[in-house]
Amino acid sequence: MRDTILSLSLKAKRERKTHSVVVVLSPLPLGEGPGVRDTIRPLSLMARGERKTHSVVVVLSPLPLGEGPGVRDVLERWDMKNILVTGGAGFIGSAYVRNMIARRPDERYIVLDKLTYAGNLDNLKPVQNSPQYRFYQGDIADRETVHAIIEQESIDAIVNFAADSHVDRSILEPDAFIRTDVFGVYVLLETARAMGVKRFHQVSTDEVYGSIPEGKFREGDPLEPNSPYAASKAGGELLVRAYHVTYGLHTTVTRGSNTFGPYQYPEKVLPLFVTEAIDDRPLPVYGDGMQVRDWLYVDDHADAVDLALHKGAPGEVYNVGGDQERHNIDVTRLILQLLGKPETLIRHVEDRPGHDRRYALDSSKIRALGWSPAQDFEARLAETVRWYQTNEWWWRKIKTGEYMQYFKKQYGARLGAES
Ligand SMILES: NC(=O)c1ccc[n+]([C@@H]2O[C@H](COP(=O)([O-])OP(=O)(O)OC[C@H]3O[C@@H](n4cnc5c(N)ncnc54)[C@H](O)[C@@H]3O)[C@@H](O)[C@H]2O)c1
Repeated sequence: MRDTILSLSLKAKRERKTHSVVVVLSPLPLGEGPGVRDTIRPLSLMARGERKTHSVVVVLSPLPLGEGPGVRDVLERWDMKNILVTGGAGFIGSAYVRNMIARRPDERYIVLDKLTYAGNLDNLKPVQNSPQYRFYQGDIADRETVHAIIEQESIDAIVNFAADSHVDRSILEPDAFIRTDVFGVYVLLETARAMGVKRFHQVSTDEVYGSIPEGKFREGDPLEPNSPYAASKAGGELLVRAYHVTYGLHTTVTRGSNTFGPYQYPEKVLPLFVTEAIDDRPLPVYGDGMQVRDWLYVDDHADAVDLALHKGAPGEVYNVGGDQERHNIDVTRLILQLLGKPETLIRHVEDRPGHDRRYALDSSKIRALGWSPAQDFEARLAETVRWYQTNEWWWRKIKTGEYMQYFKKQYGARLGAES
């Protein structure tokens, strides 16, 4: 159907002195909501008809056909309507879907998520009844599933958040990381290429660079990942690069820094510490706690992905850093202060092997596209802590079963033998 739209909309067009005429065949309904009428609003409709499977629209437009703000531009935007968001039930992916559904009424967000321990449909509750949203449970490493969804939903762009994403788990059991973060990315790329998907955005991480004692990483710096997680993310990213260079796929990559906010699975340090402290339980701080992380608020991360998808140049990589560096121990103290809990809850435990000391990113390239993060870490942290305080329904049911088994494996011995 995508080919039909393209060939028809390009075939039947004429440019006159004062207006352009374009005929469009669309798989969307004409009607209210996210239909043809909505998208074509800036142009005027001359004639239209609705069939069982498609709408036909003849557009008379005062805009020129050509480049810039012309008919082609409007159609191009319209043509990029169906976005497949893989890993969209996770922490950052779900924020992206929630925010973009509100911001971009002319786009549909189709989520494909395996619902691993980290995927949670509660994260998508706020949009579950939106006509712009659809959910499929499935694995990005399963070609048939990916192929069927791209076909059925006429997917125009893929934004890949899906990953096994927790460093500690990658040290305990790396297999799933290689399968999803490398092979899964390959399956998405290969299917996108074969089916003519127009854009592919890969959500990557600052961890691909490794640690930096001072200064900031730039996009051209070498990748020196130190954990199985970071290495598998680097592998996925290099495949994205290869698909751009070899096959001309329009790809973009963002490398985000440590992200925080509501709906983050409580194995990651920030929600872990907030939820443990709420229950007056000890907070296991790795080593001396002097590791530095650059904190990025989740909505800022989602905005950067959206910007890179829509405005990023093909084949480019963009660093996305919050420019808010803090020592882990200071963030821990701040959490305790915000909750009114004593610092005696802090326990220094044996460090994680290969623990990167500091991450820092130079984000001037994405800033030049028009992105900037909110510079108020303390205020955003306070809001986030409040969210976990007032949304116990969300995290209490997670912190049972599989989560408890993992927690014991990771911290049990360490908390028993505090350093
Ligand atoms: N959290 C951070 O601080 C951070 C920072 C930079 C980059 N990133 C990257 O952002 C992305 C999202 O991170 P997050 O923190 O939201 O992770 P998350 O663990 O909360 O979410 C990952 C989602 O992917 C899904 N998933 C896992 N394997 C899958 C598979 N094979 N097929 C389909 N779905 C699968 C999970 O069910 C889950 O919903 C990841 O790619 C991660 O590498 C995260």
